[in-house]
Amino acid sequence: MDSLAVNKGLAAILVAGIVYSLSGLIAEALVHPQELKESAIKIEGVPAATESAPAKQEGPAPIAPLMASASAERGKDDAQKLCAVCHSFGEGEPAKIGPNLYGILGDKRAHMAGFNYSDGLKALGGTWDYEGLNHWLYDPRSLVPGTRMAFAGIKNDAERADVIAYLRSLAKNPEPLPAVEPAAAKAAEAPAAAGAPGAGGPSFTALVAASDPAAGKADVGKLCAVCHSFEKGEPAKIGPNLYGIVGAPRAHMAGFNYSDGLKALGGTWNEDELNAWLTNPRAVVSGTRMAFPGIKSEKERAAVVAYLRSISPDAPAAPAKP
Ligand code: HEC
Ligand code: HEC
Repeated sequence: MDSLAVNKGLAAILVAGIVYSLSGLIAEALVHPQELKESAIKIEGVPAATESAPAKQEGPAPIAPLMASASAERGKDDAQKLCAVCHSFGEGEPAKIGPNLYGILGDKRAHMAGFNYSDGLKALGGTWDYEGLNHWLYDPRSLVPGTRMAFAGIKNDAERADVIAYLRSLAKNPEPLPAVEPAAAKAAEAPAAAGAPGAGGPSFTALVAASDPAAGKADVGKLCAVCHSFEKGEPAKIGPNLYGIVGAPRAHMAGFNYSDGLKALGGTWNEDELNAWLTNPRAVVSGTRMAFPGIKSEKERAAVVAYLRSISPDAPAAPAKP
């Protein structure tokens, strides 16, 4: 009796699975032929800016400072041109080739029930925060190599921010904008302005060059060593080992359990990005695992980065001082 019950249970699960896969296939068969023709045409017509992918390795610029000047209005126009062939945006609207995107900011990955997502996107887990969407819209394939979203990405930072501002507006209570440190915003907008000593000399990099790594080492001993190790080859603690971090890729330590947000950030750690991170990690990656409020003094941050630089033999040379 017992094993019969078990068999029935297994059979039920199997049938449910088959019905689920079939419904996906049927839905695709129903939706694809018409939509695909249209999408192929429209995508060819997409402005060149979205097609060119000059610096694939670089990754997108951090989104938080860009959101301040982004426009949901412009983003809506862009989304009509770039996304509407595959996505619907109104609350409760059915999927097209891609899922409905109402309320996507702050919602979980693969959020639409019954939509036939790729395994890769389902496996990603977590929620869509600003940085996650930034990375996805910059180059979906670099976030999920096997994604079904056949879209080259938006390489233009302002345009990507506009689209994210539009996605943010698709909610009854839009998510708060990401917090931005004034220094990071200035760096993003006008690196040469902001009272930098010489033309084009980013002031933080210059501060780092003028800072004493030994002072930074003392700060790090107080502020970071509880969570991080700094010697070459040392194991992780609560946070990853930081030997060689300047010039290293984001989420650089193999096997460390990084947050999705930090992994999604992409790119490498340079002085300015470490400056933003150490000012307020949460403004860079809202879902970060680094429970650290940030260092408010720019001088202290510069000393810490000078120390990190001193333990990063492969760091790119500092830009020449003016
Ligand atoms: C050619 C069709 C196509 C275009 C164009 C397209 N998408 Fe997609 N999109 C998809 C598909 C298909 C998926 C599901 C991806 C998967 O399962 O890997 C998807 C997934 C997504 C997701 C994740 C949704 C979730 O539930 O996790 C977001 C966000 C998204 N797209 C935003 C956009 C935006 C914004 C644009 C325009 C800038 C865009 N897409 C352009 C087809 C497209
Ligand atoms: C309470 C523990 C904690 C403290 C204190 C802390 N960190 Fe972290 N740190 C982490 C964790 C955890 C991560 C991984 C973050 C993630 O996955 O989002 C991390 C990540 C980092 C990264 C990114 C590493 C990479 O591989 O991309 C850097 C750089 C960093 N921390 C520097 C510092 C510095 C410098 C200090 C001191 C000023 C500090 N952290 C203080 C826990 C901490």
